[in-house]
Amino acid sequence: MQWLADADGARRFVGAARADRQTVGLVPTMGALHAGHAALLHALRPQVDRLVLSIFVNPTQFGPHEDFARYPRDLAGDQAWAEAAHVDAVFHPATSVMYPVSPSTFVQVEGIDRVLEGAVRPTHFRGVATVVAKLLNIWTPDIIALGQKDAQQVVVVRRMMQELLWPTRLVVVPTVRERDGLAMSSRNVYLSPAEREAAVVLHRSLDAAERAVRGGVRDAVRLGAELAAAIQSEPLAQLDYAVVVDAATLAPVAQVAGRVLVAVAARFGATRLLDNCCLEVEGEAVRTVLP
Ligand code: PAJ
Repeated sequence: MQWLADADGARRFVGAARADRQTVGLVPTMGALHAGHAALLHALRPQVDRLVLSIFVNPTQFGPHEDFARYPRDLAGDQAWAEAAHVDAVFHPATSVMYPVSPSTFVQVEGIDRVLEGAVRPTHFRGVATVVAKLLNIWTPDIIALGQKDAQQVVVVRRMMQELLWPTRLVVVPTVRERDGLAMSSRNVYLSPAEREAAVVLHRSLDAAERAVRGGVRDAVRLGAELAAAIQSEPLAQLDYAVVVDAATLAPVAQVAGRVLVAVAARFGATRLLDNCCLEVEGEAVRTVLP
């Protein structure tokens, strides 16, 4: 496994792979890897010849008062996860590599970057789209993998790739959960034991919402209200949103029909957690799908 730290090294790696007619897969991360990230690596491993993991805590996707400085970092742990997943190269650039000058060029996916997470974090998706575009420019991968847990990120990146004519295929990997159902996240380490226990309310409430849809509920407003009430019944949860939206446009829907994303965000102490489920509803038939 090679460690690469700059764009030239990355381009040489890709050039050698292409010369051997090998395909390249990229899993972008901010490090502090856990089994959720590993699922992305394992999903791509059999699909590509050369598997690349990038680790970069991207400053432009953090707001001024967010956790950039204290975001967890664990390169030794990351290396062990990468080795176990048979990664061929780890890309771990310095900020000066990804942002060689004070940035004035950004990629912005207007509209869908301002709802849900974007309503609370107005520059977040501009930072995500910009850094993913840079990684695509450097690595020109055949496939990239993103996790369902950050469903809006999937929608934003998919739209950015479509509009910027990237031929790269996007693979979405289902959310990996702890035993009690909490979605794995690098930010779970911030939770106190009581908050950690309370946080399972997100998954439980989403499960109940899915059961309600399977039971025939089609009123999206009622479903969202019940979901919100279930989360608010947990005293340690401060709800940000609990919504039912169109899975492609992220616009609110009145009826649960077609592909809908049921998305929640809540704070537990200072830690904001996300979760979602994505359903495809056609008449009576309800299927769990990926965003
Ligand atoms: P990060 O939070 O490190 O997540 C990297 C990838 O792992 C994302 O695609 C995320 O959705 C996925 N992931 C995280 N937890 C997961 C879980 N429990 N199950 C499945 N997938 C999970 O997301 C980012 O980094 C950044 O925004 C990035 C895309 C790297 C751009 O900076």
